[in-house]
Amino acid sequence: MYEIRQARKLEGEVDLIGDKSISHRAVMFGSIAEGETRIKNFANSQDCLSTVDAFKQMGIDINIDGDRVIVLGKGLLGLKKPNGPVYVGNSGTTMRMLLGILAGQSFDCTLTGDRSLSSRPMSRVVNPLRQMGAQIDGRERGEFAPLAIKGAKLRPIVYDMPISSAQVKSSILLGGLYADGITTVREKVRSRDHTERMLKLFGADLKVEGLSVSIKGRTNLKGQDIEVPNDISGASFFIVGATLLKGSGIKMKSVLYNPTRTGVLEVLRKMGANIEIKNEKTLSAEPVCDLEVLSGELHGIEITPEMIPSLIDEIPIIMVAASLAKGKTVIRGAKELRVKETDRIKSLTTNLIRMKAQISVEGDDITINGSKELQAADLQSYGDHRTAMSMIIAALTAKGVSNISDVACIDISFPGFLDILKNITR
Ligand code: S3P
Repeated sequence: MYEIRQARKLEGEVDLIGDKSISHRAVMFGSIAEGETRIKNFANSQDCLSTVDAFKQMGIDINIDGDRVIVLGKGLLGLKKPNGPVYVGNSGTTMRMLLGILAGQSFDCTLTGDRSLSSRPMSRVVNPLRQMGAQIDGRERGEFAPLAIKGAKLRPIVYDMPISSAQVKSSILLGGLYADGITTVREKVRSRDHTERMLKLFGADLKVEGLSVSIKGRTNLKGQDIEVPNDISGASFFIVGATLLKGSGIKMKSVLYNPTRTGVLEVLRKMGANIEIKNEKTLSAEPVCDLEVLSGELHGIEITPEMIPSLIDEIPIIMVAASLAKGKTVIRGAKELRVKETDRIKSLTTNLIRMKAQISVEGDDITINGSKELQAADLQSYGDHRTAMSMIIAALTAKGVSNISDVACIDISFPGFLDILKNITR
């Protein structure tokens, strides 16, 4: 149990961690590129270390020194068969994107994960890869890990994505890298585009036209120097904390400002948050900016299904903000939240109701009637890092002492979060 007392305000400069999605990709693409990839500001979190371990087991030399990583890539066909099953812990991004790479190898391999990951849907990736010729087996016809992948010759496909998911899109594009010809993925709503941006940097023959992405297979990648922007998902907990606690003022440098990820900033600004964006620039093909946040008065808004992909990981902390905003917030079409590390609609709703927030859920739509204050309570992380961090911020605003179970899971995306928070809490 971790104890949280009400805070007066948050103040100071926040030292963030590198972006999780971009860190994963830098290691993956570096491993299948030719030559050295040097990564700065790598997210040294459990999920990203799962990606590092997976490639180490496939014969790639990866040296980690704090947040600096050097990957000695061996080219598209340089991976070697691992000695046993590859365990990727809690990391959905690792498992789903690796499937695309492994499908086109000349060896067989088994991927396993922890209990949470083993209950998350995989056929969204397995089915399109099977259309490409991949041979993948798993529980319930490939819906759940462990997954056994038999390396096969892949053919290109044109795939219309039924859901908006960057993990699925990326996995098919990586499969496409191993197919002869051009593979195309078409989305209805654009999901995060880090794969597209970074694969281009590494020299892939990749074209983005509107909502369609095409990649030409068998093009060699070249190792790169990558500087990872700071994680906007990690930043969002502090942004909401500073917004809710009167008199707060915080600053954050080089935060990812990619439009496929900035839905949280748009929504919070629409709700009345004081967020200033400064010094926009580009870092390794990704837009970044500095952020300054002062406390503000929030009011409720409507979040439509088209907005969801750009803020999918931030809905938990937006639910906390909405619980303390004036009036009603409605979040529509949040179905994907049900298949994250835990069912986040359920985990957040259960916890926030314990704090006496006014929330109702109908299907996958969430309605929150904001209150003036939340009450301290006993809370549960459900082993989910984003539920834990969101509820810790909620508890900082509540009179009295709250407790939350299992905060160790925070290390999955943001080791150091609690110390950083302590440093800026007044
Ligand atoms: C991610 C994509 C998102 C996100 C996850 C990371 C990625 O998942 O929730 O935390 O790095 O591509 P989906 O693509 O399944 O929506």
